[in-house]
Amino acid sequence: MTTTAITNIAGLVTNDPALGDGSPLGLIENAAVVIDGETVAWVGPAAKAPAADTVFDAAGRAVIPGFVDSHSHLVFAGDRTAEFNARMSGRSYSAGGIRTTVAATRAATDAELEANLLRHLDEARRQGTTTFETKSGYGLTVADEARALRIAAAHTEEVTYLGAHIVSPDYAEDPAGYVDLVTGEMLTACAPYARWVDVFCEKGAFDGDQARAILTAGAAAGLIPRVHANQLSYGPGVQLAVELEAASADHCTHLTDADVDALAQAADTTVATLLPGAEFSTRAQWPDARRLIDAGATVALSTDCNPGSSYTSSMPFCIALAVRDMRMTPDEALWSATAGGARALRRSDVGTVTPGARADLALLDAPSHVHLAYRPGVPLVSAVWQRGVRAV
Ligand code: NIG
Ligand code: FE
Repeated sequence: MTTTAITNIAGLVTNDPALGDGSPLGLIENAAVVIDGETVAWVGPAAKAPAADTVFDAAGRAVIPGFVDSHSHLVFAGDRTAEFNARMSGRSYSAGGIRTTVAATRAATDAELEANLLRHLDEARRQGTTTFETKSGYGLTVADEARALRIAAAHTEEVTYLGAHIVSPDYAEDPAGYVDLVTGEMLTACAPYARWVDVFCEKGAFDGDQARAILTAGAAAGLIPRVHANQLSYGPGVQLAVELEAASADHCTHLTDADVDALAQAADTTVATLLPGAEFSTRAQWPDARRLIDAGATVALSTDCNPGSSYTSSMPFCIALAVRDMRMTPDEALWSATAGGARALRRSDVGTVTPGARADLALLDAPSHVHLAYRPGVPLVSAVWQRGVRAV
């Protein structure tokens, strides 16, 4: 196995409080990382780095764990430029826009869907993302949902069945019939390709009872729940996520005190995943990250990349928004975009730079990770290692 030492790192974020400065980020200054094959073999002060087969000089720049984007919707075709344009002229966002993408996705070939997925993955990787989750939800027939998951599963292990994105237009007069399909034949066809089951619990999508039925059926088929919760309005999504021990409650924009308390109590089980690209792109109020963190909830940041509500693949952009507008510190935002995402995906092998972890790293063209928020919109990611291989 070949070893590579990345040396002369001004600031290395390990996300292991036992390392470095003792903060949650486990920051080590003047650091080195040694990669052995696909994994991190050693981290510590550059002066003590063991010999390696090859050496990469970070030249006084920062190295962070690759981003863990724990929420995206990347199996789709077409775009929604007209809808965005109308929104920026004053129209409001609603769940119904999803139908436009459903029509385009159904009409696309497998090859077109896969090429589109790969284009967005490549875009995300160039911005430092090394682990990503993605969902179905733009097919809404048994065959279209199953093919979306099959295509996704060829490119990531974090695949989510979201047959319950909205009620299929084919069942407009029979929502109960659609829930039966999602919990029956469609689930059977989709479960083999997925690790997670999700539902959009929202007015205009699925109510609390429907969401409970869908998540419970998914869990019985071996999938772990995660929930689109409290995005556009107050509602039962967050409480349901906590009750069903979902891995994450995603969006969390409209929260009562009881919702915040529930997420704080469930901090070891259910992560509050905040998706500021959606609020940016729908001109909505920001989720209150400060309130959640101060209460003790575990917070992740993710892109929600999709053609409707949040068409960004950029984790650095989400970090900048979270720091500027959601009152997260730069350290908190970076933790949430890496270790927080890993927690939301119940992964211990990614989101950290520690011996034994997957060697997923991003080199920033900056001396510190703080520059991700301090220099918004600047392409700072200058190299990426994925499973120990230079990917960017
Ligand atoms: O997470 N909230 C539901 N799903 C997506 C929106 C999808 C769309 O508008 O196409 C979201 O924001
Ligand atoms: Fe989403």
